[in-house]
Amino acid sequence: MEQSKQLCLAAKNGEVERVKTLKDAGADVSYFDDHGLTPLMHAAREGHSVVVRTLLEAGAPWNALSPLNLSAGDFAMEAGHQEAFEILVNAGIQAELILGTIARRTNKAGDSQEDYLDDRVSFSENKLMDSNSKAVMMAWEKPLMEAHAKAVCSGGGHILNIGFGMGLVDGAIQQYSPISHTIVEAHPEVYERMLQTGWGKKNNVKIVFGRWQDVLPQLESYDGIFFDTYGEYYEDLREFHQHLPRLLKPGGVYSFFNGLCGGNAFFHVVYCNLVSLELESLGYSTQLIPLPVKDCLGDEVWEGIKHKYWQLDTYYLPVCQCLQDGE
Ligand SMILES: C[S@@+](CC[C@H](N)C(=O)[O-])C[C@H]1O[C@@H](n2cnc3c(N)ncnc32)[C@H](O)[C@@H]1O
Repeated sequence: MEQSKQLCLAAKNGEVERVKTLKDAGADVSYFDDHGLTPLMHAAREGHSVVVRTLLEAGAPWNALSPLNLSAGDFAMEAGHQEAFEILVNAGIQAELILGTIARRTNKAGDSQEDYLDDRVSFSENKLMDSNSKAVMMAWEKPLMEAHAKAVCSGGGHILNIGFGMGLVDGAIQQYSPISHTIVEAHPEVYERMLQTGWGKKNNVKIVFGRWQDVLPQLESYDGIFFDTYGEYYEDLREFHQHLPRLLKPGGVYSFFNGLCGGNAFFHVVYCNLVSLELESLGYSTQLIPLPVKDCLGDEVWEGIKHKYWQLDTYYLPVCQCLQDGE
């Protein structure tokens, strides 16, 4: 315990050799001091990049959180310590590629998909809620959905949207009068509502009821694709990406709701990097367009909602295209 406290101090002061000696003597690299900070957080906050690297190599957890929900990467980022920040981003990417520890928690719901699809949902003007008072979709996202629609409709043609929710993105897609507009929706009540509100009667709209995983054989190939489901994990998004080469036409544009780790700025950076890398390995470039969202999100927005799934000031809208298209 005493040694671990000393490790925090040595990390804070950037004393690399002392850090190594204490670690070899058995000091705990995962120790939280009286302020709830780990040695790695101390080193990151002060920008001691060599100590950051040393602690990571010794097994210090890159994703430990302080009482204010800040990770070592948040401390480095806030203080503008670029080198320490990059070391931590890379450590995060490596760890998530192998373990995917955070991915399990990245979805809006946190519950399993079957529970959500079997349960009731409730609609109001500003939101669509699941039976656990968690928001499936909220009206504050409207400007984001409009921006997503603009991106995926930029080349016109045939558009696919996965997940109807409140129909915000679909309403915006309709403004671009695509040749065809296919919507996949899995929740029976959301589907029912789509029919009640006339979506089944629109000339260019085709509704496919079912989970995207189950209806893939009914899908064709498209000029623009948007993906925004609920109650799914990062692995599901990843799985969807495996189908892009068949679903997206050459020259087409793909985008998805980028709510990955929307509760922590640093984890979000890690996941933006991770998803871009994974898309690159499939042959897609990803541009992340920053959109300020602070003004859409007053405290009243979250009243009565259990899980505040987005807490960051900037939204990064992904625009993905086949790498060869740009060449
Ligand atoms: C966040 S909402 C989509 C919001 C929509 N982008 C909008 O602009 O209103 C997610 C939607 O995806 C649906 N969904 C969830 N899992 C799905 C799946 N596996 N396949 C198809 N739809 C799914 C949900 O029922 C819900 O309607």
